[in-house]
Amino acid sequence: MSEPFLNYISGRWLSARSGRTFANHNPANGDHLGDYPASGPEDVNDAVAAATHAFKSWRLTPAPKRAEIVFRAGEIIRERKEDLARAMTREMGKILVETRGDVQEGIDMAYLAAGEGRRMYGVTTPSEMPNKWAMSVRAPIGVAGIITPWNFPFAIPSWKLMPALVAGNTAVFKPAGDTPEMAWHFSKIFEEAGLPPGVLNLVFGSGSQVGSPMVEHPGIHVISFTGSTDVGLQIAGRGGALGKRISLEMGGKNAIIVMEDADLALATDAIVWSAFGTTGQRCTACSRVLVHEQVHDRLAEKVAARAKQLKLGDGLDAATEVGPLVNAKQVETVEAYVAIGKGEGSLVAGGARASGGALAKGHFHQPTVFAAVKHDARIAVEEIFGPVLAMVKVRSLEEAVQVNNASRYGLSSSIFTADVNRAFAAMRDLETGIVYVNHGTTGAETHLPFGGTRGTGNGHREAGHTMLDPFTEWKSIYVDFSGRLQRAQIDNA
Ligand code: UN1
Repeated sequence: MSEPFLNYISGRWLSARSGRTFANHNPANGDHLGDYPASGPEDVNDAVAAATHAFKSWRLTPAPKRAEIVFRAGEIIRERKEDLARAMTREMGKILVETRGDVQEGIDMAYLAAGEGRRMYGVTTPSEMPNKWAMSVRAPIGVAGIITPWNFPFAIPSWKLMPALVAGNTAVFKPAGDTPEMAWHFSKIFEEAGLPPGVLNLVFGSGSQVGSPMVEHPGIHVISFTGSTDVGLQIAGRGGALGKRISLEMGGKNAIIVMEDADLALATDAIVWSAFGTTGQRCTACSRVLVHEQVHDRLAEKVAARAKQLKLGDGLDAATEVGPLVNAKQVETVEAYVAIGKGEGSLVAGGARASGGALAKGHFHQPTVFAAVKHDARIAVEEIFGPVLAMVKVRSLEEAVQVNNASRYGLSSSIFTADVNRAFAAMRDLETGIVYVNHGTTGAETHLPFGGTRGTGNGHREAGHTMLDPFTEWKSIYVDFSGRLQRAQIDNA
């Protein structure tokens, strides 16, 4: 890469004011991929000033015109899909088929969000008074602070930034430290697509040096965050006290329920993909299977056999099925939970770091399965964010639903059954933001709302027909053309 990786503020590519940098590494082999500005509060101030200034004209740019720029960005992303996917695999480790999917989610979102530019519907309704008009329209909020994770480094910025920009907001964007390159490409593409200076501002750096100053900054009116529950709740607390709108997407402990009448071969495919795809590092990943006691042992055997066969390696190698974890800390977390799991269930696959041969310099851990785990064991309750699966016996659908709903989190859930009555009961009773029937817990499509209940979120949904909600205010407008004072609730009573 000949071009340096810099912040993008007010349409200019800039180093951190301090001149400091941090390094980006490939988690599969430790290769150095580039240095990025280690920004601080002063860079956040510059970005907010640029976004505040740009908001004045961006909010007045017609929404269909704003949306055309997003559409053009989608076209550029589509042309570069393969290069972007390869860069993403190098940067965060997941295998190429999955990084292609991540980029595709950005393309899908660009086309979907661009369409909103010509909809963005409001509601007109009769007034209770004669000769008076009443309507409600969406208005942009102002400067949006966008804080994104490393696991979907293209899709998640797309879910947030594309609707925010179409709605007429400007933005300050802080990507995760583990995936700066994807954010750099994202911003380059928007510059190329014709986004005016200052509408999107990119600031690289840490949570404490960039994220916290964003939350504190009076010029940022809404924060959209995806990441850990701990950090999300801190942002909600502090941002809430400052009167900001906070949209959160946090942890998950997603369950696949398998009833005794299920197609076990299909369920096995789905469990293996949902649990070990993205090396278990999806918010939607399946980390517990609630399986009917009659089929528990059979299913555990099948899942374990498949988990043992999964080929670990560099995600750029077409034969690889499971890439590395994103960094050394994630491996340590997984190891700690595997140690806990050894006292909580019966280890039927994996259970150790993988560091032989070509894996020596990477952050690899074997896909790991524990069977006969109690529903309230730590590995069945706490989010691990790695390739560790707990299989829990249940005696009935009712019990499965109860165990599912007792979780602190509520993003995604799934049921495998051949019984349509059970499927519909589960659709009604599973208290998660996303429910799948005869499909694993991952693979949400961009045109449906994405988000979760309980500790996963705070009531917001991203993408789908709800995409504008976090980034707009409703404005109710009354036009009185009677030429006289008409008092609502009084003069018509
Ligand atoms: C995430 O892990 O935060 O539904 C996003 C899925 C993907 C998105 C996951 N489309 O698994």
